This record gives sequence, structure tokens and C-alpha cells, in this order.
Amino acid sequence: MGKIITFANQKGGVGKTTSAVNIAAEAGLAGKKVLLVDNDPQGNATSAVGLFNKKNLTHSTYSTIIAPDTVRSSIQKTKFDNLDIMPSNINLAGAEIEIIEFNDRHKRLKSALDQIKDEYDYIFIDCPPTLGLLTVNALVASDGIIIPMQCEYFALEGLAQLSVSVKKVKQMYNPKLELVGILITMYNGRLNLSLQVMAELKKYYSDKLFKTVIARNVRLSEAPSYGKPIKYFDKHSKGSQAYAEVTQEIFERI
Ligand SMILES: Nc1ncnc2c1ncn2[C@@H]1O[C@H](COP(=O)(O)OP(=O)(O)O)[C@@H](O)[C@H]1O
Ligand SMILES: [Mg+2]
Repeated sequence: MGKIITFANQKGGVGKTTSAVNIAAEAGLAGKKVLLVDNDPQGNATSAVGLFNKKNLTHSTYSTIIAPDTVRSSIQKTKFDNLDIMPSNINLAGAEIEIIEFNDRHKRLKSALDQIKDEYDYIFIDCPPTLGLLTVNALVASDGIIIPMQCEYFALEGLAQLSVSVKKVKQMYNPKLELVGILITMYNGRLNLSLQVMAELKKYYSDKLFKTVIARNVRLSEAPSYGKPIKYFDKHSKGSQAYAEVTQEIFERI
């Protein structure tokens, strides 16, 4: 049975998309059948796997949320091993308003993904930087959540807020939702602040922190403009190695 895992953090620029794309690609290379769901109106994950012409998409995460039974028509193959994408574009920004009055507004994505879950080993969902209805839909559909975060001063406050939301979704809609792990991204071990925040995280979340830490690596930030996950762009880079390692940790956890 496939596992559905959401990458969420209400803060922008913390490495959600980079992590979702590269972990999805790594899992595909490891022989798992993978679907990457772009659940962000910005469509960054869509471009990062080579779909740059997303303006006129008629089948997308948006059409799926509006009409969950059409889920299959919105899935495309990518040119990467075992990796499919449900692409997204700016239309998705309207979805929250359009479904707000539906009784099942929280589980539109779940209704869709439940129909195809068994055809994949992993479905990874990349979320927008909010805790709005799109992210709630992702969490309701998921078995687990991965929280990418940077070692910054406000990171711990953000994590506490996010934990409250996850707990609420768990209580109200999805008791099986579990925290798969917290992934430190863009790490710079030469900064005192990073070391301090890391020490705090270890104190409170030791069993949930992934052992692998994603260091700052310029190749990771260059890969999306070529429409390639890091393993296909520069497989010897530090970033590529780190994402390969954390993907193994994920396989062990869920
Ligand atoms: N480990 C890293 N090293 C260097 N740049 C990174 C790293 N991870 C992400 N980035 C860059 O930082 C920016 C924000 O990352 P992104 O994954 O888009 O965050 P989010 O999806 O949370 O908004 C992007 O430009 C991305 O290429
Ligand atoms: Mg993003």
C-alpha cells in the first residue's frame, strides 16, 4: 500500500520544494514508484521536474481538487525514473475559495489520492507556505508529514505553531497522521546561531530529527532552472549525496 507524505511548513523559502522534488526523484531512482503532487499555486515543483510550460495546464492539482474523480487525467510522466507529477499553476490559488462551502472541503485531495494510492509506493505532496485549506487537504490525505526547516531564530516558534495545526488535523480528520521527521535544510555549521538552534531542536525533538542534515549547496539552487532533480543535474554534489541519505532514512521510518 502506498504511503502519502506531505512536506509542510508555513514559512516560505525553507526548502519544502527542494526536498520534495529531490526526495521524490531519489525514491524513484531507488526503484519505488513515485508520484509528486505539486500542491502550491506557485508551481515550483512542476518546473523543477522540467514542466516549464504550465500556464495552459487544463489538468492539474487544481482540476483534481475541483473534481476528485478526474485525478488520473491530471497525472503526467516525467522523464525521470519512476517519477510521475501532478502539476500545478496559479489556478490553484482559486481552489480554496471555490471549495470553501463544500462539506468535504478538507478531504477533496484525499478523495482523489485514495483512488490511485495503491498504484504507487510513495506519493509526496509539496505544499504552499501557509496553513490554509490546501495544506489541510494535504495533511488530511497523508500518512505522514515531513517538516523541512532552517536553523533560524524563529524556527522553533514556527515549529510549535505547525505542531498545533498538525495535532488539530489529526484529532478532527486523520488520526493516523504521523510526524515522519524534521529535516534541517540550508545548514551552515559555522554559524553560532545554527548550532544553538540545532541544540534546542535536539533537546525537544531528538527522535524526530533526521540524522541527515542538508547543508547549503549552490548546486541544489541551480538544478531547478534546468528542470532537473539534483541527482540528474550533478550527482556528485554534496546536495545530491545528502538527499540520497535522507531518502534512505525515510524508507526506514515509513
Ligand atoms: N540546501 C540548499 N542550499 C542552497 N540553496 C537551497 C537549498 N535548499 C533550497 N535552496 C534554495 O532556497 C530557495 C528556497 O527553497 P525552496 O525549496 O523553494 O523553499 P520552499 O519550497 O520552502 O519555499 C530556493 O531558491 C532553493 O533553490
Ligand atoms: Mg515551495
